[in-house]
Amino acid sequence: MADNREFTYRRLHSLLGVIPVGLFLVQHLVVNHFATKGEEAFNGAAHFMESLPFRYVLETVIIFLPLLFHAIYGLYIAFTAKNNVGRFGFFRNWMFFMQRISGVVTLVFIAWHVWETRIAAALGAEVNFQMMEEILANPLMLGFYIVGVVSTIFHFANGLWSFCVSWGIAVSPRSQQIVTYVTMGIFFALSIVGIRAILAFV
Ligand code: HEM
Repeated sequence: MADNREFTYRRLHSLLGVIPVGLFLVQHLVVNHFATKGEEAFNGAAHFMESLPFRYVLETVIIFLPLLFHAIYGLYIAFTAKNNVGRFGFFRNWMFFMQRISGVVTLVFIAWHVWETRIAAALGAEVNFQMMEEILANPLMLGFYIVGVVSTIFHFANGLWSFCVSWGIAVSPRSQQIVTYVTMGIFFALSIVGIRAILAFV
């Protein structure tokens, strides 16, 4: 019974990491990338997202609650799960370890980023190009944002690999190898999108 519950939580954790949290991450990176086209383009894209109908319901149901569950259960997994040494090769064991490390780094980054932007907005600040420009003018913050964004993207891309394995999408060693290449490609492509957006504010 307890095993069943644990299995369901693991599956839910895995699914929520991709849908909706992973999809939201990709959408967020694409909107931020408008910063490379200038201040007006970024503010236009950001304000469009803010003006969506049922914004608070969407934010709560699509982002906040799934992320909260994934993060809390993710911390539990990160600090209790046994490493599967022997089941996979050296490279996969490292990726398994990095998945946990990047999850914790991502949590710290997201908590800070949400505080500085979304909560600040709820308290009356305007989230726009100028706000990000001011935040990223501090070299320490610039470094923190680059590490945080790359860590989040790595966590998502590498997570797609274990998602494909645990949902039976990549079963044979050959298909798992191909998915490794595809997900690492996703990691590099999204990292370029994320870093370009950050540097556009500097
Ligand atoms: C934008 C934020 C995040 C995204 C897009 C994301 C996405 C993912 C994905 C797609 C997976 C793979 C699921 C699977 O193995 O089937 C995953 C796994 C994992 N995530 Fe996240 N995640 C995020 C934030 C976090 C946070 C804040 C934590 C907190 C520590 C966390 C901890 C974990 C852990 C420990 C795993 C491994 C689960 C396992 O091996 O069974 N994640 N994540």
